[in-house]
Formats: sequence, C-alpha cells, structure tokens
Amino acid sequence: MENIVLSIDGKKIACSSGTSILEAAAQNNIKIPHLCYHPDLKPFGACRLCLVEDEKTGRLMASCVTPVAPEMAIRTQTPRILRHRRNIVRLMIAEHPESCIVCSKGNRCQLRWVASQIGVGETGLYSMPNYKPLEQANPFIIRDLSKCILCGKCIRADHELVAVGAIDYNLRGFPSRPATVHEQGLERSNCTFCGTCVSMCPTGALSVKNSRYVGSPETESFSICGFCGVGCTLAMGQSAGKIIDVNPAHLPDSVNKATSCVRGHFANDFLNSNDRLIAPLMPKKSEDETIQMAPVPWEVALDEVAERLSQIKAKYGPQSIAFMGSSKCSNEENYLFQKIARVLIGTNNIDNGGYISGQFLATFLDQKTGGGCRSNPLSDLEKAEVIMVLGADPDHSLPVVSYYLKRAARQGTPLIVVDPRKTELINFAALWLQINPRGDLELLNALAALLHEKNACDSEFIHRYAQGFSSFTYALSALDVDKLSRVSGLKTDRLNAAIELLKGKRIAFVIGHGILQQRYGIHTMGAILNLSLMTGSLGADGAGVYLLARENNQNGALDMGTAPNLLPGRMPLEKDNAGKTWEKNWKAKISPNPGLNMNRIIAAAESGQLKALYIMGENPLRSLPQPDRIKAAIEKLAFVVVQDILNNEIVKLADVVLPGAAAAEKSGSFTNMEGRIQRFLPVVPPPGTAKPDYEILDQLASRLGAPEGFGALDRIREEICRLIPAYTEMNSRGQSWVKTTSPMAVFRADGAGEMISFAPVVLTSDEPGDPDYPCTAILGSLRYHLGSGTRTSASERIRDFELEGDIAMDSADAAKLKLKDGDTVCVESRWGVIERKIRLSDRTGAGRVFVPLAFNANDAMNLIDFSDLADPNSAGWKTCAVRIKKA
Ligand code: SF4
Ligand code: SF4
Ligand code: SF4
Ligand code: FES
Repeated sequence: MENIVLSIDGKKIACSSGTSILEAAAQNNIKIPHLCYHPDLKPFGACRLCLVEDEKTGRLMASCVTPVAPEMAIRTQTPRILRHRRNIVRLMIAEHPESCIVCSKGNRCQLRWVASQIGVGETGLYSMPNYKPLEQANPFIIRDLSKCILCGKCIRADHELVAVGAIDYNLRGFPSRPATVHEQGLERSNCTFCGTCVSMCPTGALSVKNSRYVGSPETESFSICGFCGVGCTLAMGQSAGKIIDVNPAHLPDSVNKATSCVRGHFANDFLNSNDRLIAPLMPKKSEDETIQMAPVPWEVALDEVAERLSQIKAKYGPQSIAFMGSSKCSNEENYLFQKIARVLIGTNNIDNGGYISGQFLATFLDQKTGGGCRSNPLSDLEKAEVIMVLGADPDHSLPVVSYYLKRAARQGTPLIVVDPRKTELINFAALWLQINPRGDLELLNALAALLHEKNACDSEFIHRYAQGFSSFTYALSALDVDKLSRVSGLKTDRLNAAIELLKGKRIAFVIGHGILQQRYGIHTMGAILNLSLMTGSLGADGAGVYLLARENNQNGALDMGTAPNLLPGRMPLEKDNAGKTWEKNWKAKISPNPGLNMNRIIAAAESGQLKALYIMGENPLRSLPQPDRIKAAIEKLAFVVVQDILNNEIVKLADVVLPGAAAAEKSGSFTNMEGRIQRFLPVVPPPGTAKPDYEILDQLASRLGAPEGFGALDRIREEICRLIPAYTEMNSRGQSWVKTTSPMAVFRADGAGEMISFAPVVLTSDEPGDPDYPCTAILGSLRYHLGSGTRTSASERIRDFELEGDIAMDSADAAKLKLKDGDTVCVESRWGVIERKIRLSDRTGAGRVFVPLAFNANDAMNLIDFSDLADPNSAGWKTCAVRIKKA
C-alpha cells in the first residue's frame, strides 16, 4: 500500500493510503473525540464529533470517514472545530432524558465523558427529551432508547460483526431509533442476545439487565471465557468481590475482538449462584440419624482423600483407582491431575470431558498428521477459498465461529453446509447439502470419487506431501457413486454442484459434533483427511481442519495428557519409549497398563474392578448417556471424591467434596480450539474457602507421596514449557500458540520430512430402519446452554428466559400423528423415554426431530446407548431411532 505523508496539528505523519484521518491521528497519539467510530466497524460518519479542519481549504470534515491524502494539513483543535463539537454535544444532551444520575452506565457513559472533555456543562437549550418506553421483557438486555444518540454502532455491530440483522433504523428524523421488525421486543425477534450491541453502545440506551441493581463495577479486568472452545477474551467488572458486568474485551489480538455470545456475556452470573460450593464437605450423621454432607476443614478433607486413596491402592492395587478430569480446568490443573494419577497412584486410568466431544477423532487426526492440524487461527477463515461445514451448528454451539463463517460468506467465500437440518448458517450458504442423518461418510467418499473422476486433484501437492494415492484412487474407482448419493440422501446434481464449488480450491473444513460424536466418526474423519490431501488443503492459510471444541480447554486437557492412552504432549502411551521419556522426565515409574477411558471407567465400576473414583470438574450424571446406569455404577464404588464448583447431582454421591474455583477466580491458561494458549489472572476471589484447583491438587500431592507437592503455578508452568515441545512458548506473557512440531513435510518450513498417508476408503452397508422406532432424533445444543448445562442452568438470567427445550418436529409428521404445536409428547428410544413439548418447525425435515440438550438435567441422555465412542463400531451419541406419541 502506498505511504502517504501529511501533517496533523503541525506534526509530520506517514501512514498507508486508505487510512482515515482519525486512525492516522490515533496511531500518532493525537486524540480526536468520537462517538460513532469503532475500529471493527465500517466508518459511518453519524455523530460529526470527530470534525477536523483542512488548513488549506478551511473545509470541516468528519475525520473517521475521510481518508488521508498526500500533503494534507489537518488541525484537530481550532476554535471553530471546538465550537462545532460543543454544539453537537449540547444538542445531544438537550435531547437526552434527565435520568443520568440513575443510569446504570454511570461514569462509563461516553457522551458524559466527551461532554466533560470538551467543556460542555449547561446546554443553554430547551430540553426536548425523546421519551421512549423502557424495553426490558427479556432477562438480558434493557433498551432505554430515549438515551439513544443514533450513533448506529449497535446496528452496524448486529449486521457487520455478528451478521444477525435483528435491528435496523426505524423512521427518520427526530423519532428515528434502532428497532426490530414491527418494533417488537428483542425476545420476539431473531436477536441471539449476544450482547455485542450492548458493549458497543456509548450511552445507557442499551445496558445489561441485572437481576437486581448492583451498581457500577469497582474494577474491570480481562479474563478468558470459561464456556466454549472459542476462548473469548472478556472484560469482567467486579464489585465487592462479585462479577457484576461482563463484556467482550474489544482487544484487537483476541479471537472475539468486540463480539461474544449470550453465554459469555450474560451467563457468568452463575458464579454468584447460591449453589456454589464454599467449603469442603464430608458425610456426617445428623441428630435424626440421617447422613448429611457437612462442612469440614480443608486439612480433614485432604487427609481423608489421601488416606483412603492410599489404602485402596495398597489393598487393591493402583488400577483400582480412576480419575475423571475436566476439559474446563486449566492446562496447569490438568497436567497436575494426570501427574498425580500416573506418578503418585501409578495408573493411566484417567480421562476428561473431551471424551464426550469425540477426542478420539482429534487423536486420529493427530496420528495421521503428526499433530500438524492443532493450530489453525479462526481469522484465516476470512481468507478461505471455500469452506465446508460438516455436522456443525456453530450459531448455537460456538457462536463466535458462526460470526467468522458468516462474515467470510458475506465477503464472497462459498460456504457449503452439510447438515440434515436447516441450520441458521444455511441462509449464508452457497450450497446446502441436506444429507440423511449419518450420511456424511457416503457423501465425502462420493465427493472424493467425483473430484478424482474430473481430474480435479492437486497433483503437485499429493506428489510432494502425501503417500498411498494410487491405492486410494483404486478404492475410489470401485465406488458406486449413485449408491453413495442415494444413501447420503442427495441427488447427483447436488453432488455436482458441490464439485463445481470445490474443484481447484483449497478447503477449510469446519467439523462439529455431527461428525465428532457420530457413528463411523473415525472413518468419516479419514474421508475428510483424504479430501484435504487430494485438494492440497493442509498446511495452507485459510484451509485445513477446524475441529469445534465444545469445552473451553478440551484441547489443553488432551495436550496435558489427561487421557488414558496419551501422555503429556499427546504422546501415545504405546509409542516406543514414550513411557521411558516421561519416566525420565518425572523420575518415576509409569504403569505400562493401558488406562480406562470414560466408558470403561463406568464399566469397571459396574464390574467391581474399580474401587475409587476422583472426579474433577465433570458431571457424569448429566454428561454421559444412561444417567441411572452411571449413578448405579458410581454408587458401587468404595470411595468417590468430587472436586467441583457447583453443588450438582454428582456431589450427592461423593464421600469427600472439594470446592474448586471457576476460571474468573484463579490464574491459569486455556488452549482454545485454534491452538491459542491464553493465560488469565483472577478477577475475583473464590467464594467461601474454595480454592483454585491447582492449589488443591498440589496440597493433595504433598499428602500422597510428593512431600513438597508438585509446586506453585509458576513451577508447574515452567515444567510444562520445558517438557512439552508444543508448549515451549507458554511462559511468555499474554497469549502464545501451540507450536507445530509435526514431522510431516507439509507443516515444516523447510518442506522436508514425512509424507501423510491417505486413510482407507471405508464403505458402510445400508442400514435398515427400525420399524418400531421410525423417527430419527438428532440431539444438539441451543445457544443458551453449554454441553450438559451444569453451569448455564445455574445462571439466573438463563433460567429467567424460561426456555423448556421444546422438541422441533416437522409439521407434516406432526399432522400424521395428530399432534399440534405445544402438545406434550413422549419420545421413546430403545434405551429410554423423555417427555417434552413439541414446536412445529420447517427446519428438521421429515422423519426427524431435534431434541435440545441440557434441559431437565439433560434428560435427553436417557435416549441414547452408552456405547464407547472410542470404538469405531459405536453407534455414536448424536442420533438415535425413536418413536413419538402424545403424552
Ligand atoms: S442504541 Fe446505543 S449504540 Fe445504538 S444507535 Fe443508540 S446510542 Fe448508538
Ligand atoms: S444482542 Fe446481538 S443479535 Fe441481538 S441485536 Fe444486539 S448484536 Fe444483534
Ligand atoms: S461461550 Fe464461547 S463464543 Fe460465547 S463468549 Fe464464551 S468463548 Fe466466546
Ligand atoms: S466519530 Fe466520526 S462522525 Fe462520529
């Protein structure tokens, strides 16, 4: 870009062409007041507060919309400009209601701040407030549009950043205001309550609805959202040790910049829930002889845990103890947790919540690519040539990912959405491939065969970086594409349309739970890898594989070795010398016995082989299928430790309860779905005597045979950096990235190294339907809850929204069953039955229903079989055959 030289307030400045005068000034520490400008929004020129004067022509212009030009001489503070600015602010204030004193925006109101900066006190004008009724029917956002200054930031954020389009200008002139269609309340519009507009609003026109009046924050600091795998940076305001206000941090190098979602913005009130655990608990006989959990001092609880685990280990051996870790806890905590299991107890029986989200597929991809796909920035999606979204509904699961996808589509990147349901992303798609549920593998194999048939492979890439192409193409040529297209539920013209969009392009694959939890997931992931190899999509910017991580630290937990078959650094236990390397690192013996995963832990509890279970930050009674079976298995154990933040169902099965701290209450680091390692500091202290989980684990380690514990946070972090090659940069301040250490040539700067093998082409047989259960239930998330909903159900605001998890059903199907909108139905599978209301929908397709997860203590998990997701023959947890009848 051309460099332009100009002067601002007499200072010579150089900047690139296309920069606005306001930005050029800001880059040189010259402050120009503004209200409608935001660096992430297109310039708009609404408020005129940023007026500057061209010295040569005397022309006044809005600096946010005027680009720099060579030899310009700009003044930002002349008496004329100041007079105009004061008049603008006086007019704004004259139109403002007199409620500033009780406005929740308080001293954060930018209008008040600008007025004080430019010396506006009394306006000297007749007050002409533009009163509007307060809109506050929903539990998230209050709209007091009498305070609106028409800066348009909310509308532009809604359209440009989150691409929802819930609000727009209504009317013109004095009565003009941002409004929904037909001026309905936000709750009746398509608003997702992401709150992005609220964090943009310079005045009190848009504010967060608190359950009760809590005042302005005393301090504000940055933290990382503890909900989904996007890992948004949030600015959290606290007062009296409680989080009272949360906003996106608006940091240019954060993943979310100025955006967030309803969970991050509004559901963090769960931190102040009455259900928080505030002291260690152990069972105690009460006066009426019943056993109740009662508070005990930390020493008593930790001594009990250490003593009972040591006794059980001595009596039954180390393999009689298992550890369920957490994809929500930090890297440091996961590292400590698995180190306690492996070094102090001597077992690999350790897993984490990532099991539920198909971590085996991530491991499969790692093994094929040497870990080369672990680091992939979301911002690269906006550079993609074509994007293929498979089995993902990021609008609900990881909303910030959906913003990236929609923005990319708006900029012209073709989006191919593969989904049996009509998700919100379809409105942005160049092509919707409405497959049968479970038709992904057939579709991907058919696309590979057609690309090959049309000679649309990247031969140079394949030659340099891949091996096994000839046997792969041999297998492709044997495929019956017509049959594949029939099984996948797509007509050949849809497949050909997809090929037209894909050929010659590098593809960004965005993969969700529709693949990660689905039957044949491993084979489907193999087919995705094959497509990415034949199109040269690996190792390039804006291409490759994006695995959606449901939980905030799913990737970090795996990197730290909180998995039965993986040591830290995701080193497979069975790999030559892996155990030896870590025995040397830790100066301890590591069990050669393969550990138990989540499914096998439960099976071992049922069989009596397992005697003790330590659960940290996971609620298997909500997150695993067949909750009654899980409960019965855990009840059989001799000793159960639960370390958690909320008093949930699993706490009731514990012998010792240890209260941990949430992300905003401790230090640590998370690794998001992109491979971005983000450090965070506490914003508030944990409630009561609760402690950060790393402190609890360290104190336990000192009682279990490591007399000095495993060290303070800095020491743990130093150990991780030293011993896990992908984390060598983790100790740098702020954020770093998982380093690619893949031996594969395509991921190495020097282009030397190993080749990636094509995966076998796997054919599945036609599955006959089950006549007793003729309908397919698709289980999925709604944006208001994360995963099983343990934390989001404790949010007062989410509860106040009163969603009931209604089942979406096709209207024609409902008519056949004589059901109408709002009827309560029984949904019955071979495994269980649930009761919910139905909502008629044109999004699910005939023969299918959509069952939202997380409602009614996540009762939807009763419908599916607890098959082992690590088993390639698992039926998966994403869909199941059901029958429906009126309750
Ligand atoms: S509601 Fe707020 S952000 Fe929206 S136009 Fe009005 S002042 Fe600007
Ligand atoms: S909350 Fe989000 S979706 Fe709703 S109007 Fe604001 S920006 Fe749009
Ligand atoms: S839940 Fe996910 S998308 Fe929403 S704010 Fe948190 S990290 Fe961001
Ligand atoms: S900031 Fe430039 S016109 Fe508002």
